Amino acid sequence: MKRSLTGIKPTGDIHLGNYIGAIKPALQLAANHESYYFVANGHGLTKPHQREELHALTKGVVASWLALGLDPNQTTLYRQSDIPEVFELSWILATLSPKGLMNRAHAYKAMVDENEANSRELDAGINMGLFTYPILMAADILIIEPDVVPVGKDQIQHIEIARDLGLAMRSQHGSTVKLPEPYLMEDVAVLPGLDGRKMSKSYGNTIPLFMEKDELKKRIYKIKTNSLPPSAPKDSATSTIYMLYKQFATAEEVKAMEEAYQAGISWGDAKGELFRVANRRLEEPRELYKEWFSSPEKMERVLKDGAEKARQVSVPFLQTIKKEIGLA
Ligand code: TYM
Repeated sequence: MKRSLTGIKPTGDIHLGNYIGAIKPALQLAANHESYYFVANGHGLTKPHQREELHALTKGVVASWLALGLDPNQTTLYRQSDIPEVFELSWILATLSPKGLMNRAHAYKAMVDENEANSRELDAGINMGLFTYPILMAADILIIEPDVVPVGKDQIQHIEIARDLGLAMRSQHGSTVKLPEPYLMEDVAVLPGLDGRKMSKSYGNTIPLFMEKDELKKRIYKIKTNSLPPSAPKDSATSTIYMLYKQFATAEEVKAMEEAYQAGISWGDAKGELFRVANRRLEEPRELYKEWFSSPEKMERVLKDGAEKARQVSVPFLQTIKKEIGLA
């Protein structure tokens, strides 16, 4: 059976972009793949943080997966920090990474650009964890040898780096490590947020998945629109509301909405309809999320089992690599 793997960083509330871009496709893949999904809490350290906050956010990511339908008997769900082999492999991969490869990585470049825009020193606030972030991510991936990695478009560069480092292992040390492919749902590779830019924790434009109903409604009504009058035809191709709607509506509902856009629908009505279908999908997971979140022992058991299963893969893999490079 083919394998799928993906990770989510615990740096904020899980939002619609995470769900549509990664969680939903990952859960679909789990039906016919051996699946390994994890919380990248080591990556969470690259941002300044409080211990309690990191704990709570980590719990939030785990509860989200479970609330949205991940079956722990079918999928191996684990916490990155429970797999020490990942961090050991990360060091080995660091020695194979040209520094220039990291200079081009976008999370680091974005921080440099932000510093420049704010007239700060170029390296202000950048720790080595952030700089080498893609190497740890490559270790996450290569160690499990997945065939596919379901992610949003912003992670493609990181998967390419993982492939580059896998290739380096192959050419320099005769390793047979598998090179993974990204698994991208083209139409939702970049889900827009409230302001039309990519929905992202760092832009503060997200719609958190498990907001209370009234909050969800308020958030949806904040989506930025143009000032066309209610009766004017609207362009669905450039509409954030429409793009989000498509993810939650049935085929008939989408068709009807498309027609309404052509005929002219008020933005208020379009938002109301988006809220209706989004809430329909999220109502049950919202309650399950609360149940999981308040059952930390149950989550701990799932994570412990998951770590055990993941280590059945990571331990022998690392041992092979260590032999190949002369460390064992
Ligand atoms: P993170 O935690 O930022 O995001 C988790 C997943 O959500 C996707 N995503 C989106 N997809 C579509 N539209 C959006 N607006 C949107 N916003 C977020 C991301 O593409 C991602 O798939 N580096 C990773 C975590 C990670 C990882 C890994 C992923 C660590 N190791 C190994 C895969 C494999 C990250 O920061 O994702």
